[in-house]
Amino acid sequence: MSEVVLVTGGSGFIGSHTCLELLDHGYDIVVLDDYSNSSPIALDRVRELSGRQFVAYTGDIRDQPLLNRIFELHRFAAVVHFAAKKAVAESVRIPLDYYSINVTGTVALLEAMMRHDVQRLVFSSSCSIYGDAPGGPLDESAPAMPTNPYARSKWMCEQILMDACYRHDGLSVAALRYFNPIGAHASGLLGEEPLGEPSNLLPYLTQAAARRRPPVTVFGADYDTVDGTGVRDYIHVEDVASGHRAALGRNDIQGFLRLNLGTGVGTSVLQLIRQFEAATGLTVPFTIGPRRPGDVDALVADAGLASEMWGWHSTRTVADACRDAWAFALANPAGYTDRAMAGP
Ligand code: UD1
Repeated sequence: MSEVVLVTGGSGFIGSHTCLELLDHGYDIVVLDDYSNSSPIALDRVRELSGRQFVAYTGDIRDQPLLNRIFELHRFAAVVHFAAKKAVAESVRIPLDYYSINVTGTVALLEAMMRHDVQRLVFSSSCSIYGDAPGGPLDESAPAMPTNPYARSKWMCEQILMDACYRHDGLSVAALRYFNPIGAHASGLLGEEPLGEPSNLLPYLTQAAARRRPPVTVFGADYDTVDGTGVRDYIHVEDVASGHRAALGRNDIQGFLRLNLGTGVGTSVLQLIRQFEAATGLTVPFTIGPRRPGDVDALVADAGLASEMWGWHSTRTVADACRDAWAFALANPAGYTDRAMAGP
């Protein structure tokens, strides 16, 4: 019998790609999402692409009675926890919402897992935990120096999960520290479609290229980097999804494990714009603006540990991600509200 996995935040960008990856590899899934920054249409697409059915509950990750009902109705082998808020600038504006949803939500989920004897968790963590850590590429032993409430919320969750593992024998947690997930599913049917104005670079750039938004503002050209613009380790979302499957496939994780999911390759904002232009044949309008509060100059992964421990590594390039993101934008000109799949 296949294992049943609860995926919180399963209709979001990384969540939906991971749901598909798990269904395609024989897992059954149950989703919990409040659709605050996503659309249930993403889950319909997952069902169509996989040819599989699954239940999706609508609700808040902090809702203990709802969590109890879900855990009573299903016997989960593991949980993959994405449900969280994730915009850095917004987190500076409304920090308490971030601590409530991201931190309290994780505690509520852990308590439900403990009550129902579910012992395996894959946690959506973030390279932003490294923040201002000096040097690079960064391996998992680099110091935590988060620079904004979003990043601090992820770091706090890791601390809480570590304490829980120390206290509860048998609990196993893989905290996957993603670098910058971008791209879309190769089918063009799943992609990144935040509600409102995108705060992340590639979704904004894609909408600017489609003339749905004003030109991209490059946030700072005076960083100590190759061309003065911020450098990040962009990783294809399908590779991030495969990292979650790799984590679920392990039964040798004892206690708390933190692991980078990155490529080891740094790309500046201007380099990403050029790569997008080369991959799509489009011109991306942009202007240079001031730095964005909370940003750091460069964050690049040392991705060696995931490869060494699990044989996992990224297989797709930034150019692949640009091409796939654009294909998704073309097929879904108004986001998930449009019906791109079955035609009129
Ligand atoms: C941040 C987090 C990352 C998290 C992600 C989720 C940090 C350091 N990183 O990524 O861990 O997974 O949010 O949302 O906290 N940029 C522009 N113009 C734009 C948008 C972005 O120039 O319109 C630049 C930024 O300054 C940065 C790069 O593009 O140098 C990437 O920004 P973004 O896509 O927002 O991701 P991060 O802030 O790196």
